Amino acid sequence: MEAPKIKAVMPVAGLGTRFLPATKATPKEMLPVVDKPAIQYVVEEAVAAGIRDVLMILGRNKTAIANHFDSVPELEQKLSEKGDDRKLGHVTRTSDLADIHMLRQGEPKGLGHAVSRAAQHVGDSPFVVMLGDDLIDERDPLLPKMIEVNQQRGAMVIALMEVDPDHISMYGCASVDATDDPDVVKVTDLVEKPAKEEAPSNLAIIGRYLLTPDIFPVLERTGPGKGNEIQLTDALKDVAVDPENVDVYGVIFRGRRYDTGDKLDYIKAIMRIASDREDLGPDLRPWIKEFAATL
Ligand code: UTP
Repeated sequence: MEAPKIKAVMPVAGLGTRFLPATKATPKEMLPVVDKPAIQYVVEEAVAAGIRDVLMILGRNKTAIANHFDSVPELEQKLSEKGDDRKLGHVTRTSDLADIHMLRQGEPKGLGHAVSRAAQHVGDSPFVVMLGDDLIDERDPLLPKMIEVNQQRGAMVIALMEVDPDHISMYGCASVDATDDPDVVKVTDLVEKPAKEEAPSNLAIIGRYLLTPDIFPVLERTGPGKGNEIQLTDALKDVAVDPENVDVYGVIFRGRRYDTGDKLDYIKAIMRIASDREDLGPDLRPWIKEFAATL
């Protein structure tokens, strides 16, 4: 899929408090999921959708992420001398994946604030915001559908997922109207982390957003919301309810997604991804069964 003008913005400046102490000196997006840091899966997802330009919004502990996507000549030389082409491939792959740009967020004032820092880099084209702790299985691509909806309707497009109504209070929730496509809805309103009784639907916002530059002036005037942070959901709500602004559509994702920002989900993600892998699955799957029988 060609997405020549679309850039990806990856905010990786959160404090990662749910993962302390692991995230004291390491961004949570660098935690390994089997043998790759979570953020590498996200960059690979962008590249698979035809995106070559990635802007990372960095916080403290920025060096680990910058180094991961840079070349490491000493290591490459050692592996090359040893003739270990497989490992050499793993090392060089990350530095050749995409054009990675880095910008500091400054203070971690929230996801909305991190996104607003990308204004100059993205210019006047649509762009995707991809959260580094939300992994979309490569077998179930999501970005191509979001790009298609943006191109057809000139709208902003958010990714939505049906969740158990008991869990909606952990997410941003969308109020929607149906369209002629069962996987696409028009977003009429957004509520951040509603109580179950107040939720307008069971459609939760997940970490992929296709935005147009119309979001920037809205973010400028968005004050601190939940957690005293500038929330992207609050700005998107303003766009969705304003008839003068562009429309907001939602693509309902029905594929496999792994949340690595939460401890329990992180462990589940590793088990699911590893048990599907050709190199690990055949040994891991019988072990999981044996282990489960002991519980
Ligand atoms: P989260 O809400 O998951 O917060 O951020 P967090 O700080 O990363 O993690 P916890 O909740 O304390 O454990 C959602 C996304 O927004 C980014 C995060 O890196 C994550 O990808 N973010 C958040 C920023 O880039 N800057 C911020 O100021 C806040």
